[in-house]
Amino acid sequence: MTAPDLPAELTAALNARLHGFSRSDAAARSDAISQTYRSGGGSATIRNETDALAYALARMPATYAAVTASLNALQEVRPDFAPASLLDCGAGPGTATWACAEAFPSLDAFTLLDANPALRALALGLVQDSHRIPAMDYTLGDATAKIADALSADLVIASYVINELNDAARTKLVAAMWAKTNDTLVIVEPGTPAGYQRILDARAQLINTGAHVIAPCPHDDACPLAKPDWCHFSQRLQRSRVHKQLKSAELPYEDEKFIYVALTREPVARRPSRVLAQPLTTKIAITAKLCTNEGVIAASAPRRAKQAYTKFRKLDWGDAVFDSPASSAE
Ligand SMILES: C[S@@+](CC[C@H](N)C(=O)[O-])C[C@H]1O[C@@H](n2cnc3c(N)ncnc32)[C@H](O)[C@@H]1O
Repeated sequence: MTAPDLPAELTAALNARLHGFSRSDAAARSDAISQTYRSGGGSATIRNETDALAYALARMPATYAAVTASLNALQEVRPDFAPASLLDCGAGPGTATWACAEAFPSLDAFTLLDANPALRALALGLVQDSHRIPAMDYTLGDATAKIADALSADLVIASYVINELNDAARTKLVAAMWAKTNDTLVIVEPGTPAGYQRILDARAQLINTGAHVIAPCPHDDACPLAKPDWCHFSQRLQRSRVHKQLKSAELPYEDEKFIYVALTREPVARRPSRVLAQPLTTKIAITAKLCTNEGVIAASAPRRAKQAYTKFRKLDWGDAVFDSPASSAE
């Protein structure tokens, strides 16, 4: 399992850029950028070095944590996956590239695409002295067009990107990313009902063209959740001092809500059930909402069933459950 917090090399590279950088300017820009995001404006508002660094300091820890949690889930189901090449679409400051590099030591070729020059410049600056990512090929431009010229990769990823595209562009990019995927494609989105819907749409589009889900779903069938229910996960991450300053936050941590799907070309031998919410503990039992091959169930382990109860106590929202829930619970 890879830790959800930014690797030391990336933290050091970000901190090195803080010298001579006004925290109050950065906080103001970070706030303005967040407001634009909340009103659906996307990252076009990131126009210069200050904006890019403010965005990275405020958002990279959370998107990194969400991508890492998604990759951990993928690796649990496919522990032998060892990609050599990565294609990161809508790479921004390189967050997903860093997370993939950390999760997969086998990676040694990194291709990135993004339309934002300030984020590209920051991404290149952050790897300038990196041992882990000594070189990256970062193309500037509209990913829906530029991806045609990219080399295919063992692992393709789009993190917090497809929400910035209209429906037609999103469908086009999803198809193009799959066409460039040698083995596995991961899409990560904000954990909102709209993010869930975009993941559902991409998942259905790709299953229709022969993809198989690795995680989070235990099957390739339609999602069994009925509206207003929806699927998402939560990853806790620590906030550094500068992170707290930029977000005017008091708490030393934050919980990033996200949704993801990982798909591959070959069917996966064994897919676990998935815990869809924080399990509920009462005086008599622990109950976990599980997505299984047979649909969504509430699996319960009574306190008196010591073995099952001990197993259920360890369950967290988002966890994989490999043994049959019926054999875990009583
Ligand atoms: C919220 S940021 C996420 C960046 C990065 N993937 C991460 O997880 O931190 C969205 C990124 O998508 C990029 N983007 C949006 N539409 C794009 C397009 N059509 N072509 C290329 N990049 C695009 C933006 O420039 C921005 O860098």
